[in-house]
Amino acid sequence: MYQQMSRSIVITGGAGFIGSHVVRLFVTKYPDYKIINLDALTYAGNLENLRDIERSSNYFFEKANILNPDDIDRVFLTYQPDGIIHLAAESHVDRSILSPLDFVYTNVIGTVNLLNAARQHWKNDVKEKRFYHISTDEVYGALGETGFFTETTAYAPNSPYSASKASSDHFVRAYGETYHLPVIITNCSNNYGPNHFPEKLIPLFINNIMNQKPLPVYGDGLYTRDWLFVKDHAAAIDLVFHKGKDHETYNIGGFNEWKNIDLVKLLCKLMDEKLGHAPGTSEKLITYVKDRPGHDRRYAIDATKISKELGWKPSVTFEQGLSQTIDWYLQNTEWLKHVTSGEYQQYYELQYSK
Ligand code: NAD
Ligand code: DAU
Repeated sequence: MYQQMSRSIVITGGAGFIGSHVVRLFVTKYPDYKIINLDALTYAGNLENLRDIERSSNYFFEKANILNPDDIDRVFLTYQPDGIIHLAAESHVDRSILSPLDFVYTNVIGTVNLLNAARQHWKNDVKEKRFYHISTDEVYGALGETGFFTETTAYAPNSPYSASKASSDHFVRAYGETYHLPVIITNCSNNYGPNHFPEKLIPLFINNIMNQKPLPVYGDGLYTRDWLFVKDHAAAIDLVFHKGKDHETYNIGGFNEWKNIDLVKLLCKLMDEKLGHAPGTSEKLITYVKDRPGHDRRYAIDATKISKELGWKPSVTFEQGLSQTIDWYLQNTEWLKHVTSGEYQQYYELQYSK
């Protein structure tokens, strides 16, 4: 049990989608902790995500790259962290298909750099230390019509993204076994919510509906994902960080499976209502496009372990979470404008003009 002893926690990738929700939760819930956001601010990192808490006295931002061991060393020496929550990653499957090596560098080598730093700086005393690695359900590969991923499902990654995350999980586990580093891993299903970068299905489609642009559904649209509201993932991370057991893995998911096309139709309906459009307006934008290569048919997480052992469960229904998410995007058009200018335009062209 890793109780309230830690006072200095480095959260990597804290300027990204999930990381920013984790940083906010820890900064506001634990005023006695020092929370250090270590982020390289890639296209996906955005300090606007943290405007509301950036002046908190227990929050520190360090622009640092996990590919650079000197950067990591500097942060360890400055803050002497006793906890690491590692979210920094290249996270988008389509980009991993365009550019696999970027994923090997950041997700595999970046993670090993961080493990090396923890090993080196904690070598004399790993008591009350914790290296918490945030991973994905995609490492387990694809499911057929039935069944769930459990913590003992064999790894079978199918995309360069999931292969890089699987590799990083293996390194984390190996450092736990070989060097007795106090590691813990969680594998979570698809997140959605405010601050989600509009390259992923839900925010991309919300943005396109707002701009009356086509909604590019891959393949037959019958691929299934298990969706979880990002704040429920952040709450699970808080719980696992404080109450999880060293060397354990926990799966996190919403028991909330949706076929893409059903989700897109629900999104269209909610958007029509909120924008005051006639029913059916947004659905007309649905356009079936070429499938994603190696597209995993179905993901579904069995979250029994975290629920039974740590008492976690999601706090909102999908309809509530999705409605809150849409409202956030409708109220944050400046945020959307900023993140969809520049590099986003080139990526969009490359990905969707094929
Ligand atoms: P994101 O792409 O929104 O954010 C990634 C963050 O990492 C950004 O702030 C970026 O600047 C930072 N970063 C990237 N490379 C870096 C580097 N070399 N050094 C330092 N910082 C760097 O990602 P996300 O969707 O918030 O995902 C966060 C983590 O959660 C990832 O590890 C991802 O694999 C995992 N995950 C995501 C989901 C999901 O649905 N989004 C589900 C399960 C697990
Ligand atoms: O399962 C967890 C994973 O969920 C995380 O590890 C990843 O970081 C995260 O990006 C997400 O991966 P997916 O590939 O499932 O998410 P994405 O939003 O890219 O796609 C969701 C589904 O929608 C998938 O079946 C592909 C489809 N899709 C996606 C896009 C971007 C489309 O049909 N059209 C699109 O334009």
